Amino acid sequence: MPFDFRGKKVLETGAGKGIGLTLAIALSHDGCKVYALSRTKSTLDALVEECPGIIPTEADLCNWDDTREKLEKLEVLDGLVNNAGIDGHDYTALECPKEFLCKLLDNNLLSAINCSQVVAKKMIEAKIKGSIVNISSIAGLASFPNGLPYNVSKAGMDMATKQFALELGPHGIRVNSVNPALVRTPMMQDLIEKGLPMESLCIERCPMDRIIEVHEVVDPILYLLSDHSSMVTRQTHVVDGGILSNITVKI
Ligand SMILES: NC(=O)c1ccc[n+]([C@@H]2O[C@H](COP(=O)([O-])OP(=O)(O)OC[C@H]3O[C@@H](n4cnc5c(N)ncnc54)[C@H](OP(=O)(O)O)[C@@H]3O)[C@@H](O)[C@H]2O)c1
Repeated sequence: MPFDFRGKKVLETGAGKGIGLTLAIALSHDGCKVYALSRTKSTLDALVEECPGIIPTEADLCNWDDTREKLEKLEVLDGLVNNAGIDGHDYTALECPKEFLCKLLDNNLLSAINCSQVVAKKMIEAKIKGSIVNISSIAGLASFPNGLPYNVSKAGMDMATKQFALELGPHGIRVNSVNPALVRTPMMQDLIEKGLPMESLCIERCPMDRIIEVHEVVDPILYLLSDHSSMVTRQTHVVDGGILSNITVKI
């Protein structure tokens, strides 16, 4: 779905693969000046080759100070999408070690808080009525086995969304989460390769009877970034084909 982002500047994290990659290309096609941050240089190189207008930033978001330094150098932005995240379903709640919990929280939650602080401060100083979109998950709203680190990171992100929305609202800055169920990306492929029957499990519970395609998550992100959602803030926008309304498998 085309939106008009001409004249707008947006930073998105995790732009190298999956949802972030498709989002960067869509924003660029819609006229946006895109700052694409990711960890792996080769994926950013490929993105810039496809869309030469995109400005890449190579950074590991787990490095708080380095990320801040790099973001401080960017111009004032109209939008931020905290999309980067990693999966982590290797331990039961009883066995999950501290290091693994810290890794997930660092990657999926603290990184987004760090980026939001830097970008929002500049928006406030420049009186920009911007939009921040956090890519959360239905895992922030419902539990599943071995989900402690990932689910807690996403539940934390949803609360960060509410907290930032409350404190940035008076400056005209909106903050929302998008909470997808399983989406067809490299992350989903990794889960399947680990032997988790994610695809069949999700389809079994999904009233819409299928997996979410990447563009079906990207469109709501574009809407929340755009002026079409000018009074929408602090929302957890679920994109799950109805999975959360289903407490059992289909009968
Ligand atoms: N796919 C799903 O089923 C699903 C469902 C619900 C929510 N989500 C959420 O949606 C977001 C995007 O997921 P996806 O499926 O598109 O993931 P993906 O295909 O694995 O892509 C994630 C991107 O984020 C980057 N990244 C991860 N950690 C980073 C870090 N510390 N610093 C910089 N870049 C980092 C990755 O870089 P590398 O190339 O270096 O790995 C990659 O480019 C995530 O927050 C995820 O939790 C996904």
